Amino acid sequence: MNAPDPSLVSLISHADGRVAATPVSSLFLTRWSARAMTAEPIPDEILFAMFEAARFSPSSYNSQPWRFAYAKRGDEAFPRYVDCLSTPNRAWAGEASALVLIASRAAFVPPGAAEEIVSPTASFDAGAAWASLAFQAALLGWTTRAMGGFDKERARLATGAPPSLKLEAMVAIGKRGDASLLPPDKQKLEKPNARKTIGQIVFAGAFPADG
Ligand SMILES: Cc1cc2nc3c(=O)[nH]c(=O)nc-3n(C[C@H](O)[C@H](O)[C@H](O)COP(=O)(O)O)c2cc1C
Repeated sequence: MNAPDPSLVSLISHADGRVAATPVSSLFLTRWSARAMTAEPIPDEILFAMFEAARFSPSSYNSQPWRFAYAKRGDEAFPRYVDCLSTPNRAWAGEASALVLIASRAAFVPPGAAEEIVSPTASFDAGAAWASLAFQAALLGWTTRAMGGFDKERARLATGAPPSLKLEAMVAIGKRGDASLLPPDKQKLEKPNARKTIGQIVFAGAFPADG
């Protein structure tokens, strides 16, 4: 039997102002999405450890619909990625060490079939991959922030994404910087945020009528 990784079984209830009603691995309380980033270069072995973590995510039929295009700061493509972002996101994400566009390819050939079908769970699966990437980043001491605020048509042009790919989210990856690097309106948000209670999201047997 494999022994559990001790760092993953040290369960905690409090971290950085976050409280878990039942203790969980520190990873889940200490990961949060910073905006302030130091713009330092990201080594390929760090970035690709994040992609590897995403690669081993679970997916329906093991269809692995996630796809990633990336630009590291200093790459010729990086300014094109920044240009895709909404104005509020551009105000901080330009200081990321890397920007990643996450897409999903819903068409896949199921095991034993000869032709492609369209997976109804491709976005759900790509979400699992994003979470794996984010948690691996946190374990390596890097921060990630996903962004829905980007122009999809521009992103398609910037990355050459064909119509078979649905563009899901951009992700900024960096080393957490000081909040003073941010525009004034964002500085007070630069900390772990709260969550709904377990009672609002978990139900024994049946969901409440209002969801
Ligand atoms: C799909 C997705 C889209 C998001 N879009 C944006 C965005 O456009 N801009 C932004 O600043 N944060 C964005 N976020 C970050 C969320 O606001 C953040 O994850 C949430 O407030 C929870 O905070 P935490 O990740 O620090 O725990 C997005 C997150 C996800 C998962």
